[in-house]
Amino acid sequence: MQHVPVLYQEVLEVLNPVPGGFYVDGTIGAGGHSRGILERSAPDGILIGFDRDPAALALAASNLAEFSDRVTLIHSSYQEMVSHLNNRNWHTVDGILIDLGLSSMQLNTPERGFSFRYDAPLDMRFDPDQSFSASNLVNEYAREELAEIIFTYGEEKFSRRIADAIIANRPLATTKELAELIKGVVPHTRSKIHPATRTFQALRIAVNNELDALEVFLPTALEVLKPGGRLAVIAFHSLEDRIVKRYFRQESRDCICPPEIPICVCENKARIKEITRRPIRPEDHEIHENPRARSAKLRAAEKIFR
Ligand SMILES: C[S@@+](CC[C@H](N)C(=O)[O-])C[C@H]1O[C@@H](n2cnc3c(N)ncnc32)[C@H](O)[C@@H]1O
Repeated sequence: MQHVPVLYQEVLEVLNPVPGGFYVDGTIGAGGHSRGILERSAPDGILIGFDRDPAALALAASNLAEFSDRVTLIHSSYQEMVSHLNNRNWHTVDGILIDLGLSSMQLNTPERGFSFRYDAPLDMRFDPDQSFSASNLVNEYAREELAEIIFTYGEEKFSRRIADAIIANRPLATTKELAELIKGVVPHTRSKIHPATRTFQALRIAVNNELDALEVFLPTALEVLKPGGRLAVIAFHSLEDRIVKRYFRQESRDCICPPEIPICVCENKARIKEITRRPIRPEDHEIHENPRARSAKLRAAEKIFR
């Protein structure tokens, strides 16, 4: 199944691409959002797309073939964006998008090991050049570390029970083995969500160090944005959204003195203004047509002129 870009119109509205603009798609995936950016910035807007997954880059290259003279694709994490831009003499850009998480293409490719619906080796790496996979995590981490990851990134209240079961049944080789194990220890509920969903999400986030990448990336995005340039982030996890929200709040305040100080001494100056005080959520019809959109939250900010 082809990946359907989430909050497509909303992203284009907040990024507002214009002809001649320079844009970065930090997570190009199948190129869905990038297509919109390239169409809106025609005839001469330019885009650099990053992805950690070479399979995603190949798909983006094919889907965006008609724009090939305006697109550069780079196999790298978006957190390395600045050095790649500088190497190409791009020092400032008009707009940056990151659309976090994984694509339908990755989820639906059994051998990538992202899904408990297929039986495949425990992998979950976005970047196949990375040596550390879900198998290392599941088979080598201590009980407390495993439980912490499953609890924090999966918001799974049975994390200790799951960690205990993993330890007792090591070595685990496949997604199905893990999913069946989890099913056996998590109490049965009427929820339509498979009991392994939260644990698989947690392992994926940990394997790919996803939250660290986001934390590193946000200040670099402000560094390369032109005044008036815009940054848009689509998050699918409450921890991701919290990182973005806090960063935007911090950078949109003029004074960051502690509240007990009566007069400002910090001389801090806001660097951005938030375009979205509250996150933009998909409408019901989008969630109905694309259930993957259900937890998406879009936040955007504009760099201030100084
Ligand atoms: C939700 S998909 C993006 C879909 C895309 N917006 C589209 O419309 O087709 C997320 C993509 O981000 C990539 N990714 C995840 N973490 C990354 C990182 N740190 N740097 C670059 N790409 C990353 C994944 O490999 C995946 O292809």
